[in-house]
Amino acid sequence: MKFADQILKRIEKIDRNSLQSYVAETLKEKDFLAGVLDSVPQGIWIVQPDGKIEYANQSAKSVLGIGHSASLRNRRIQDVLQDRSLSEVVSGCLLNRRYVFQREIEMIFPRPAFLCLTVIPFTRGTGNEDSFLVVFEDTSNLRAEERRLAQSEKVESLISLARGVAHEIGNPLSAITIHLKLLEQEISSEKHPRRKNAEEILRVIAAETERLSHIIRNFLVATRRRTPEFRESDLNDILRDSVKVLKPEMEKNGIKAHLDLCQTLPPMLLDTEKLHQAFLNIFKNAIQSMPRGGTIHVASSKNGKICTVQIRDQGIGIPENVLPRIFEAYYTTKEEGSGLGLMIVHNIIKEHGGRIEVRSKEGKGTCFTLYLPIRSEKIPLPDPSEETQKP
Ligand SMILES: Nc1ncnc2c1ncn2[C@@H]1O[C@H](COP(=O)(O)OP(=O)(O)OP(=O)(O)O)[C@@H](O)[C@H]1O
Ligand SMILES: [Mg+2]
Repeated sequence: MKFADQILKRIEKIDRNSLQSYVAETLKEKDFLAGVLDSVPQGIWIVQPDGKIEYANQSAKSVLGIGHSASLRNRRIQDVLQDRSLSEVVSGCLLNRRYVFQREIEMIFPRPAFLCLTVIPFTRGTGNEDSFLVVFEDTSNLRAEERRLAQSEKVESLISLARGVAHEIGNPLSAITIHLKLLEQEISSEKHPRRKNAEEILRVIAAETERLSHIIRNFLVATRRRTPEFRESDLNDILRDSVKVLKPEMEKNGIKAHLDLCQTLPPMLLDTEKLHQAFLNIFKNAIQSMPRGGTIHVASSKNGKICTVQIRDQGIGIPENVLPRIFEAYYTTKEEGSGLGLMIVHNIIKEHGGRIEVRSKEGKGTCFTLYLPIRSEKIPLPDPSEETQKP
């Protein structure tokens, strides 16, 4: 027999003080349990077999999207639920009194949500009819996260499929490029009257083939998932090497590079290969923006724990409406561009825990400023998965 039943049986014999303290204790316990139930995020209801509501905790209404002012007095849970299919499922559970029911249901009204519904029948002592514990848990966030994961898995597998195709295209493309060169040599030794025409056609084919190769190369670089390998390196060396690689192209276009590099820059933890790629992409854009030649100013400096690299050209500049889009994948204003160059730059700088700023004036030029944290072997790098501020 329960303690409460024993008390009730002997209530007339219990002295007033003991009874008072018992009631006070019981009320305290009741408040405590009600507080516990009100603090859980799940909506908890206790209903009679016909659905009449006996108890609902604080979250009961909010989980179901029912307004706080809605009254639950003398109402049945089936009538309180605004979503018809949800209400039908609950009614079905109340009819089927013996089984524990658990299922995830999509609710449409009054707000779209995924709910995990659990209905547990229970008996309250002898003589009492069965009651039901009905619990609603909002699983929308969980679903959204699952969807996001599934989506990113889909994107990943599409990318790897596309990478495979790009690789396959790359090989015959290289063969075509080599054979075009051979054909060019063959034709140039001929004395045919239409040799010039043939040479012009070949030039167009070669240019288009090169364009295709460029797109494929950039796509493969952009989608390469190599995790960065950070080693202590000299950032100025990477800048010098990148300029050196492009020197012939600069000279051909009447462009000079002016380097103003910080002499006190300490060795930094960097992925040399990736940063080299990033600088090349910025320099190439600078070269392409200066068809009439000019100077590219390259400067590195140090400010506390931040190293700043500035690459400034005297090119055509970027119109204001174009500026917000330049880091987008496949955004290009060039006939032969793939629009992946700056996206690659952005990803590489992000992996280094840095950020990029761009200032540009049409007809005057563009200045890319990269901010990179100075880190040595002893200080760990930031988690590359953490989103840094997008330029
Ligand atoms: N230094 C610059 N001067 C002027 N415009 C620039 C400069 N850098 C970038 N842009 C603009 O930003 C766009 C995107 O640049 P991005 O390097 O991503 O692609 P792209 O150069 O067009 O093609 P590619 O993939 O071959 O690099 C360019 O098409 C151009 O309009
Ligand atoms: Mg580019």
